[in-house]
Amino acid sequence: MLTMKDIIREGHETLLLKAKEVELPLSDKDKEILKSMMEFLENSQDPEVSEELELRPGVGIAAPQINISKRMIAVLTTDEKNEKLYKLLLVNPKIVSHSIQKQYLPGGEGCLSVDREVEGLVIRHKKTTIRAYFYNPETDELLPFEMKVSGYVSIVLQHEIDHLNGVLFPSLSTEELGDATPVVFPIELEEDEEDEVV
Ligand code: NI
Repeated sequence: MLTMKDIIREGHETLLLKAKEVELPLSDKDKEILKSMMEFLENSQDPEVSEELELRPGVGIAAPQINISKRMIAVLTTDEKNEKLYKLLLVNPKIVSHSIQKQYLPGGEGCLSVDREVEGLVIRHKKTTIRAYFYNPETDELLPFEMKVSGYVSIVLQHEIDHLNGVLFPSLSTEELGDATPVVFPIELEEDEEDEVV
């Protein structure tokens, strides 16, 4: 089971590498890595388990963050309207197109691999089309996958795909927002709720 001690932090060289494409069909080892990444996100979002294991709540994780330089990511989150659940294990994901319109997370981004407060905000594409292979651990199937996302989920996916390219969000942080618009969360977070990170 993954815990915070398995997560490498800013300064570790693996986080700066361009991760390798995953060879298909998926090996048993890569399947186990994918499952462990999703299990980490699930545990981190369970109040009791996360407290017991001292996990930071996370909505996304990329394999390089557990020191495996391969193009695999896990995402577990709802959209900003809390209407749709995204539970994704993606292999070799890429952004195949994006909007010209830009957006940002008004509270700033966070990352399991970044332990400090970061000034500024990250400007990202508002809409992205992601192409990948989708792994379903229940059926053990790996299927071609394409999805168009916008808003919060689009930001989470861009953040995770950045990890596969050796990019950490502090290096993208800026005070210049230009014509980017904030992601609007209709439901306010409770004051004592810890921000989720990716
Ligand atoms: Ni991150």
